[in-house]
Amino acid sequence: MSRDVSEAEPDPSAYPVEPSTLDSLLDAPEPRADAGVHLGLWRIEVARFGDDELELGSGWLDDAERGQASSYVRAELQRAYVLAHAAARLLVGATTDTPPEKVVWGRHPCPACGEPHGRPRAEGASVEFSLSHTPGQVLVAVADVPVGVDVERHPDDPLALSRLLHPRETEEIDAAAHGRLDGGKATVRFTRAWSRTEAYLKGIGIGLGRDPHLDYLGTDEAPARTIDGWSVRDVVVPEGYGAAVAVRG
Ligand SMILES: CC(C)(COP(=O)(O)OP(=O)(O)OC[C@H]1O[C@@H](n2cnc3c(N)ncnc32)[C@H](O)[C@@H]1OP(=O)(O)O)[C@@H](O)C(=O)NCCC(=O)NCCS
Repeated sequence: MSRDVSEAEPDPSAYPVEPSTLDSLLDAPEPRADAGVHLGLWRIEVARFGDDELELGSGWLDDAERGQASSYVRAELQRAYVLAHAAARLLVGATTDTPPEKVVWGRHPCPACGEPHGRPRAEGASVEFSLSHTPGQVLVAVADVPVGVDVERHPDDPLALSRLLHPRETEEIDAAAHGRLDGGKATVRFTRAWSRTEAYLKGIGIGLGRDPHLDYLGTDEAPARTIDGWSVRDVVVPEGYGAAVAVRG
């Protein structure tokens, strides 16, 4: 991808996004046939879902998704994957009144190489969507414009991982770790910058095919920012996690 390095403009007066919670796969949201959603964002607390719902959700997946689900060795990763895909099928299907198991899952072309490994897409649906799963938490975003979402657990070693980020973000995390900067511990600052960057790159559709050290999204508390025509906002998630959503326009 031949875009230059970008720097986000923070908007300190904006609020972080409070997601809706999806507490059951049986609670299908109302169908929205005209798809007039600017942004719908749902959070799933994995621990609230029992084996019955997991089985129901697994039954909606296609062969490729089932194969991917069974490749996870750790049960907590597999549960989060199944719930993320089942919830995305439910929420995206609701926009066209399609049952979750009938949603035809695909991928947009990657903007870097044209191969079909960009943002996920659902055949016949006019909405865009994005999903993110990590042990314990899932986020699904549905929008009428390209969207990317990310949720991350706080890492054990933010200093080592911070080297992957933009050099100014690395510096900010290092300064926080050594008491030279207020406004959030190093762990929180790392998770903010990482989730903002990943949400943005998933929105573009390139994912980590674009080096996360190229774009500066910042580690500060400002809950919203714009970068290269995208609005990137922090998402309210439980203690121990960080999350962001990026919407084009
Ligand atoms: C997308 C990516 C950032 C996900 O990272 P992660 O933190 O492990 O996972 P998350 O749970 O937050 O997101 C996973 C979801 O992102 C979506 N996704 C995958 N690739 C994506 C892309 N290029 N753009 C947008 N979304 C993407 C998928 O829906 C995926 O869900 P699935 O694995 O259950 O199917 C990472 O897998 C990636 O960047 N992969 C592509 C890297 C690459 O080199 N591409 C080649 C470019 S030519």
